[in-house]
Amino acid sequence: MAALPNKKSEKSKRTQVEEMFDDISPRYDLLNHLLSVNIDKHWRKKTINKLKSYNPENILDVATGTADFALAAAKIKDAKVVGIDISEGMLSVGRAKVEKKKLTDRIELIHADSENLPFENENFDAAIVGFGVRNFENLKKGLIEIARVLKPGAVFYVLEFSKPSKSPYKQIYQFYFTRILPIVGKMVSKNSNAYTYLPESVNEFPDGEDFLTILADAGFVNNKCFTQTFGIATIYEAHKSEN
Ligand SMILES: C[S@@+](CC[C@H](N)C(=O)[O-])C[C@H]1O[C@@H](n2cnc3c(N)ncnc32)[C@H](O)[C@@H]1O
Repeated sequence: MAALPNKKSEKSKRTQVEEMFDDISPRYDLLNHLLSVNIDKHWRKKTINKLKSYNPENILDVATGTADFALAAAKIKDAKVVGIDISEGMLSVGRAKVEKKKLTDRIELIHADSENLPFENENFDAAIVGFGVRNFENLKKGLIEIARVLKPGAVFYVLEFSKPSKSPYKQIYQFYFTRILPIVGKMVSKNSNAYTYLPESVNEFPDGEDFLTILADAGFVNNKCFTQTFGIATIYEAHKSEN
């Protein structure tokens, strides 16, 4: 059975994901940095360093959440970032951060679904998704939609959790992700499902070579992956074809 925030609910995955992120949004940043001991910031920064070499001026951050990836991307000189997300709760935390950093002229956050983007074809120089693709209801549809709004040849980065395959990291990771994280996550977020859904959704996500195949099926070319921190996360680089 597909990983869902609430297996007893009849609602679509999209609605369940939206409601779950609305619910945890006030505590999302705290939990994110606490549970990952801040490594998440390092992974985002590393991805943006790769993106920087393409000098993009117009970047789309899909599933922007509380805008951490968008804020990191806005450090690229002269870049403008549009972040989209289905959760108004996450977006409103993100908007407050953008205002606090006085970046409202560089970052715009919009309520939208990755599977139905409100942009014209070939609009963006680059797109990024941080810890978002795993939550899409229809992964391939979301990726095809992202390709649609990218200019020919544009670069696309996905940062996502993956599963370490080597011992002892594999066992340590499984213990932490399935035993520690759900307990701490539930205590701090006050949401009983979110941090059980997280390891389940990571477990079922097609990572590594499998995700590269999905990117290729969605029309991306020159696809590569870079594993991070013993394989806990992976940065995927893909390109929209030139024609
Ligand atoms: C784990 S958070 C990641 C947020 C941020 N990118 C980061 O790096 O921290 C996942 C986000 O994906 C959003 N999301 C899930 N499915 C989506 C979809 N179909 N379209 C847009 N956003 C989506 C959720 O609302 C949530 O804010």
